[in-house]
Amino acid sequence: MTSIGIIGECMVELFRAEESSQQNELFKKRFGGDTYNTAYYLAQCARGNMEVSYITALGDDSLSCEMIDTFAAAGVGTDLIEKIPGAVPGLYMIQTDEKGERSFLYWRAQAPARQLFQTAFSEQLKAGLMQKDWLCFSGITLAILYPEGREELFQLCRDFRAKGGKIAFDSNYRPRLWQDSDEAKYVLNQAYSLCDLALPSHDDEKLLFGLENTDQSIQRISKLGVHEIVLKNGSESVTIYTDGDVQIFPVETASVIKDTTAAGDSFNAGYLWARLSGKEIGVSAATAGEIARQVIAQQGAIVPITVPSI
Ligand SMILES: Nc1ncnc2c1ncn2[C@@H]1O[C@H](COP(=O)(O)OP(=O)(O)O)[C@@H](O)[C@H]1O
Ligand SMILES: [Mg+2]
Repeated sequence: MTSIGIIGECMVELFRAEESSQQNELFKKRFGGDTYNTAYYLAQCARGNMEVSYITALGDDSLSCEMIDTFAAAGVGTDLIEKIPGAVPGLYMIQTDEKGERSFLYWRAQAPARQLFQTAFSEQLKAGLMQKDWLCFSGITLAILYPEGREELFQLCRDFRAKGGKIAFDSNYRPRLWQDSDEAKYVLNQAYSLCDLALPSHDDEKLLFGLENTDQSIQRISKLGVHEIVLKNGSESVTIYTDGDVQIFPVETASVIKDTTAAGDSFNAGYLWARLSGKEIGVSAATAGEIARQVIAQQGAIVPITVPSI
């Protein structure tokens, strides 16, 4: 059975309850984070036919324990999750203005996931990850790690690939998580040069490198040595590069769009599921798109889906 370790940070999410009013603001809690979203959807797709593990560090508090129980209940492996005594998980609150525009407030500067690959557990973690077939992480994972931990992860990637392991990477560029854009460019390019499957958004290339069209994004990333690039571009198109060959796939129109949170994360899960199950790129892109459409038709990052057959 194929195994994949997905590395990153899952946070406590606070969102305004429907029954909330101006006099009496009420918030509900759930859990979310780009890499966890991918792990969740991949586990839903694979239904036990793939070993999907989430790799993070949490605290030893009740919320951290609840989070781990939630992962396990979703079919996501929790064996390599570290519990750091005294730490508590990162938190974010979704705020919605009068026009329905959403913005996010974060409390994650002290989050335990930032210490990944730097604690006493690190050797055990790396040994566990070396046993996997695939590793997957994102630009958010890299942004929250401290430079030492990031270097440890990159070295692990080199060792992992040397023994035949494969790496999937989504750039998920979030400007405020980086010191400046130069740091982000440098680190994300390093990740590209170490991955086998890149799943970036064209928006990230536009924002960080000023690239106007998807051809330019594909060219730039392929020059870093990536063999398979799946370039997402919202409702426009999905461009897939495989060893010099470029194919553009149209995006099927969504009949309902309620909340686009986790569109890219769930797309990644669908693509990974189909591709790691041996499907060709066209089928994999269609599967990924179908899952993303179900996710954006519902409120919230983590929602129930009907898994398409492949
Ligand atoms: N408006 C939309 N209509 C249909 N599909 C969409 C729409 N927005 C996103 N998707 C699907 O979700 C995928 C990821 O969305 P995108 O916005 O490119 O990623 P991200 O959420 O990472 O920025 C797209 O490739 C597409 O399949
Ligand atoms: Mg994304």
